[in-house]
Amino acid sequence: MRFANKVVIVTGGASGIGEAAVRRFAGEGASVVVADIRPDALERIVGDIGGEQHLAVEVDMLDPAVIDRMVDAALDRFGRIDTLVNNAGMGSFGRVTEIDLDHWRQVMAIDVEAVFWASRQAIPHLSRVGGSIVNIASASGIAADYGFAAYNAAKAAVINLTRAMAIDHAPEIRVNAVSPGLTATPLATGLTGNPVIMAAYEPVLAMKRPAEPSEIAGAIAFLASDDASYVNGHNLVVDGGMTAHTGQPNFTRLLGGESHLAGAESAVRR
Ligand SMILES: NC(=O)c1ccc[n+]([C@@H]2O[C@H](COP(=O)([O-])OP(=O)(O)OC[C@H]3O[C@@H](n4cnc5c(N)ncnc54)[C@H](O)[C@@H]3O)[C@@H](O)[C@H]2O)c1
Repeated sequence: MRFANKVVIVTGGASGIGEAAVRRFAGEGASVVVADIRPDALERIVGDIGGEQHLAVEVDMLDPAVIDRMVDAALDRFGRIDTLVNNAGMGSFGRVTEIDLDHWRQVMAIDVEAVFWASRQAIPHLSRVGGSIVNIASASGIAADYGFAAYNAAKAAVINLTRAMAIDHAPEIRVNAVSPGLTATPLATGLTGNPVIMAAYEPVLAMKRPAEPSEIAGAIAFLASDDASYVNGHNLVVDGGMTAHTGQPNFTRLLGGESHLAGAESAVRR
């Protein structure tokens, strides 16, 4: 029970990766503050994990005053905050020339500004108990995707904000990020539910499948736990090896067995 007597806030906790993190923390003994914009889903999940020990808070992470109330509600109910998981986020599709300023600002507001503000409000309380922050960034924050301009920019900002907070606020707290690759959640159904897209993923996904949300939750829980007591400022990429690939063609498949590879090597040397 790594999180017995600990209090964990998970934003966007009513679906996907956030929900899996909620279930993982609750399963390991934490009192979980489940924060989300969707009251129905919130109530269902908090009921599922055994209501009494936990707290559902309806929030719109776009509103800083509402984020303040989320932090206050956690303190009022439990008197402490050990971990903040900044998970709520939105996707975005479009090149720079195709998205407008309102869309850009909305992506930045939920994917970056809310991380900043929730962290700012929680850090004094986390510091009192030697707590930690886990930010959910993305593999899309470490390199670019076609048509994901705002999302790429936002998630890269989250990764470097993680590092900045990690050095500024150590040793009182630790701050780390998890960067998932393609994960089977409602956010990603436009991709995982499209056979053409999934066929195009085939040479890219070394594991030959998207992650399950619980596989991301395991990494989140690790970073929040004492098992990671000296891990600070780290961006833990959980993408099944997707970004381990340079992007070069699959030589094994194209050139066949070892003898062909040897031929290719000598051709390169010539
Ligand atoms: N699914 C993926 O492939 C993937 C990959 C990399 C990173 N991520 C990141 O993981 C995080 C979680 O995504 P997910 O895939 O679980 O998505 P999801 O859509 O399943 O869950 C997101 C949750 O955030 C909540 N939310 C959205 N806007 C909110 C707001 N303004 N205020 C409060 N709550 C709000 C939603 O209600 C939902 O419950 C996001 O930050 C996302 O960018 C997802």
